[in-house]
Amino acid sequence: STEEMENRVREIKRQLGKKLFIPGHHYQKDEVIQFADAVGDSLQLAQLSAENKEAEFIVFCGVHFMAETADILTEDHQVVILPDMRAGCSMADMADIYQTEKAWGKLMEMFGDSIIPLTYVNSTAAIKSFVGKNGGATVTSSNAHKMVEWALGEKQRILFLPDQHLGRNTAADLGVSLSEMAVWDPIRNELIYDGDMEEVKVILWKGHCSVHENFTVKNIEDIRENHPDMKIIVHPECRREVVENSDLNGSTKYIIEMIEGSPSGSAFAIGTEMNLVKRLIKDHPDKQIVSLNPYMCPCLTMNRIDLPHLLWSLEKIMEQNPENIIKVDADVSKNAIFALERMLARA
Ligand code: 13P
Ligand code: SF4
Repeated sequence: STEEMENRVREIKRQLGKKLFIPGHHYQKDEVIQFADAVGDSLQLAQLSAENKEAEFIVFCGVHFMAETADILTEDHQVVILPDMRAGCSMADMADIYQTEKAWGKLMEMFGDSIIPLTYVNSTAAIKSFVGKNGGATVTSSNAHKMVEWALGEKQRILFLPDQHLGRNTAADLGVSLSEMAVWDPIRNELIYDGDMEEVKVILWKGHCSVHENFTVKNIEDIRENHPDMKIIVHPECRREVVENSDLNGSTKYIIEMIEGSPSGSAFAIGTEMNLVKRLIKDHPDKQIVSLNPYMCPCLTMNRIDLPHLLWSLEKIMEQNPENIIKVDADVSKNAIFALERMLARA
């Protein structure tokens, strides 16, 4: 039963003590989050992994790229485990390393040495390694402005992987006009742009988050009509027109802080992942909170981590036969760390 499973997780946590660390992303289910030693957005979880020198086992409740990042940032004796290997990220899968290297070759022919690559942390370790090797850095939604500003100070133009929306929204906030942004289509292996090439400042990889793309301008119009007093707050992984028509936009951490900091009686429609929206609704009964998309938007891969998978991975540790270990190759890790450190030094 659920109660038996919960009791067993508690018991294992008690027995392993500080040897075990369970980070949990805000998009995880409550049945998992209740056992997390730390809950955070992707930047906070990366920072906590880098700081933790004590835990032997890091059971990462999040998705594959986050567990890879934790492995890269922790020491060799620390083992990172993902409770279900199917917990991937469709956005991270949209930038494959072979496509990226091919794209880079072509972009070099077009623009010479004037480009620096940046990648959202929602990318594979191989992409982070590519970016690190080429002088670039990772970014998260919490520090994207800072990092894009830094990169545009380093070089004349940037290649932003793999989320076109976060890249476009961030660059637009920094004053880059849409006419200075081009899109790289990895399937056709070509640049989509119809202006003067010299003008291009930001090249957006054509990837997206299938969860945040479900929020639409129609959803916004419906809220404006039915709840004119509601503030609309969305994650910058949403499309440009959704962000432009909202009242506020920012990272997971920003959204939580805005809700927590608002006075009793405030009303919000939130455009981000379902588990977080549901938790905000539950934790703030004094506020009127709804999902911007009434059908809610779950991240199916985040949801693959559930109580049975968490317990299974902990039992395997107890049997001294840990499974689902995430180990990034040393040669990939070596360059990926440059990209992550350039970010962490500025985060
Ligand atoms: P943040 O935690 O950086 O807000 O990222 C959101 C997300 O989509 C994680 O997969
Ligand atoms: Fe990937 Fe989007 Fe899910 Fe985050 S919410 S893990 S970006 S698919």
